Amino acid sequence: MPSSVQKDENRHITTKVLYSMKKEGEKITMLTAYDYLTGKFLDAAGVELILVGDSLSNVIQGNETTLPVTLEEMIYHTKIVKKAVEKAMVIADMTFMSYQVGVLDAVSNCGRVMKETGCDGIKMEGGNYLSETIRKLVEIGIPVMGHLGLTPQSINKFGSYKTRGVDKEEADQIFNDSIALEKAGCFSIVLEKIPTALGKKISKTIKIPTIGIGAGPYCDGQVLVSHDMLGMIEEFKPRFVRKYMNLAADMKEAFRHYISDVKENKFPSKDESY
Ligand code: KIV
Repeated sequence: MPSSVQKDENRHITTKVLYSMKKEGEKITMLTAYDYLTGKFLDAAGVELILVGDSLSNVIQGNETTLPVTLEEMIYHTKIVKKAVEKAMVIADMTFMSYQVGVLDAVSNCGRVMKETGCDGIKMEGGNYLSETIRKLVEIGIPVMGHLGLTPQSINKFGSYKTRGVDKEEADQIFNDSIALEKAGCFSIVLEKIPTALGKKISKTIKIPTIGIGAGPYCDGQVLVSHDMLGMIEEFKPRFVRKYMNLAADMKEAFRHYISDVKENKFPSKDESY
């Protein structure tokens, strides 16, 4: 962060703050939350963006893909996260098929999410084909975050979770989509699993902040799934996830410890009983 940028720990994050962070070269942080306490801890730590991602489907519901999670479930989780947050912007992911059918359907579903959860904006996956929908949402007053590159809701089209935009044709498509999303009025774009050079080119070209996940160090901010960076998902080890804890092992150890205390009649201890 350049020395000219003074971080105000108590600032309330808005799209305007995010634009000025990009302008000043201050990196933006985003992490996921699906529950009240995680929302509270993230906000207290000072993260700028809290995403109630549709990764809820994998992480909380144990599904293989993000496709099964419903709009009702997203509304429930966003509502309980938002309750805990005072400073960060809370963004709700629009679920598969809640915004692709048509502009009217998308507007009505995004409106429901904003109205029923109190969140500060929504995120949707896809490029230029969403321009009309995004324009309408922004006109109404709903801040929209885009999502390009690896878009997990399209896993059945891609066939794998490999890096996107490796060949020139797809790289050009992603680049052009980023320009279309900016033009349509997105306040920010998530860039997932694309080559570093492409992440850099997009971030240097568009004026709105890019938030990368596996998109290299030149994005204006970075996002991770909190459960990944806390080391709760042992079998998921992509290169871009840095683990800050080994919570899966710690939790399993704590559960084993409790079981053995109960079995050996060491819990509760005499002075802890009522
Ligand atoms: O659903 C999610 O958690 C996401 C992030 C990985 C960006 O979309």
